[in-house]
Amino acid sequence: MNIVILAAGRGKRMRSPLPKVLHSLAGKPLLAHVIDTARTLSPTRLVVVVGHGGDKVRETVGAPDVQFAVQDRQLGTGHAVQQALPLLDPSVPTLVLYGDVPLTRASTLKRLIDAAGADRYGVLTVTVGDQTGYGRIVRDASGKVKKIVEQKDANEQERRIAEINTGIVLTPTRTLEAWLASLKNDNAQGEFYLTDIVERTIETGVEVVTVQPDAEWETLGVNSKVQLAELERIHQRNVANALLDAGVTLMDPARIDVRGTLECGTDVSIDVNCVFEGHVTLGDNVTIGPNCVIRDAVIGAGSRVETYTHIEGGKTGANVVLGPYARLRPGATLGDEAHIGNFVEVKNAVLGHGSKANHLTYIGDSDIGARVNVGAGTITCNYDGANKHRTVIEDDVFIGSDTQLVAPVRVGRGVTIAAGTTVWKDVGAGELVLNEKVQVSKAGYARPVKKKS
Ligand code: UD1
Ligand code: CA
Repeated sequence: MNIVILAAGRGKRMRSPLPKVLHSLAGKPLLAHVIDTARTLSPTRLVVVVGHGGDKVRETVGAPDVQFAVQDRQLGTGHAVQQALPLLDPSVPTLVLYGDVPLTRASTLKRLIDAAGADRYGVLTVTVGDQTGYGRIVRDASGKVKKIVEQKDANEQERRIAEINTGIVLTPTRTLEAWLASLKNDNAQGEFYLTDIVERTIETGVEVVTVQPDAEWETLGVNSKVQLAELERIHQRNVANALLDAGVTLMDPARIDVRGTLECGTDVSIDVNCVFEGHVTLGDNVTIGPNCVIRDAVIGAGSRVETYTHIEGGKTGANVVLGPYARLRPGATLGDEAHIGNFVEVKNAVLGHGSKANHLTYIGDSDIGARVNVGAGTITCNYDGANKHRTVIEDDVFIGSDTQLVAPVRVGRGVTIAAGTTVWKDVGAGELVLNEKVQVSKAGYARPVKKKS
């Protein structure tokens, strides 16, 4: 099968310089949703018709299995498909999809493909409450499709028809060239309508079949930011329902956003207002507190991610505790039972089994062993202004509060670092390290008082 995706339109009503099909739904361009769905149908040719912002579209969704056809001027949907013709295999049918209709399910498309087969013309239609703006499906007395008439060309009676054209069709390809060549633009919009093919099929004796989607939202298109926002909500509700069906507890299915993929083990619980981006995996019994943003992460079984934790990449073992207010950045790798507390940032660093950094700390470019206690206000000084260096802390080290570790530096197993120490030289195993300072006290000190104005 060939698949052609129409994506040449500008989308004036989006009021944005970005081509319409590149606006994001669930963190992914509209057109990428359509391409991903198309791929699940294993097309032999996949052609995207581009026009407005074509270079940007190619750059964004370009892939070895995607070919592009250019429609310089948007002369109508029929004209758009015509631009793709030279790239199509005439011996197999062609499915036409729209780059701005992102939520069509593959199961619905499969039913259309099965119904139309190799030599019928299949149209995906839907009966809607408000048909304004859509092409209407006109049937004869016996119920056979006679034609599709656009809103602007329809008479009073036709405008009352509630069954509309979604635009998605499956057509034999060999006959398509002649059909498209015969299209005329003598209509209200002066366009070459793909919908006029229906009348050609009847002249040629090709049967027209119609199929309805499982849900109306599958055929909704995006023409404005309002519609984009509506589809985003529909999509997020679908994702939330799928999570609930899989046994995930969501405190409020209306307050979760998944912009990518979220895989959950058993008995995972997610509180309100969490955003998941990229690819996130939560192990069995993981709980996520409210207001967390989690991207590209693997959280081990039994872990607790507390309120306001921000993860931009990272991997944890089992039974870790993150947050409240923790931040993991790419390359953060935590062993089982590790704790990362409030206002602790971990970047490109490994923390071993049971190590804890509970408060106000920066751990960057570090290798930290097991059972290390990182005191409040500890900073790995990993950057010398030009290059990054590593800090190595071996097992069972105790780091007192307000410690700076000036990398590159290595702290041996079992070392104790006194509070307020700047460690800039390696420390041998089992040693106590401190900076000598004097504490000075002056009796009878008087604090300054505010001057009266
Ligand atoms: C089209 C259908 C209408 C259907 C509706 C469903 C025709 C003539 N009309 O109308 O029956 O009910 O979709 O939403 O087909 N495009 C191009 N090049 C063009 C024109 C359009 O690539 O020259 C692309 C657009 O970018 C868009 C899609 O085709 O993705 C549909 O175009 P649009 O102008 O929105 O068609 P409608 O007038 O809504
Ligand atoms: Ca449209």
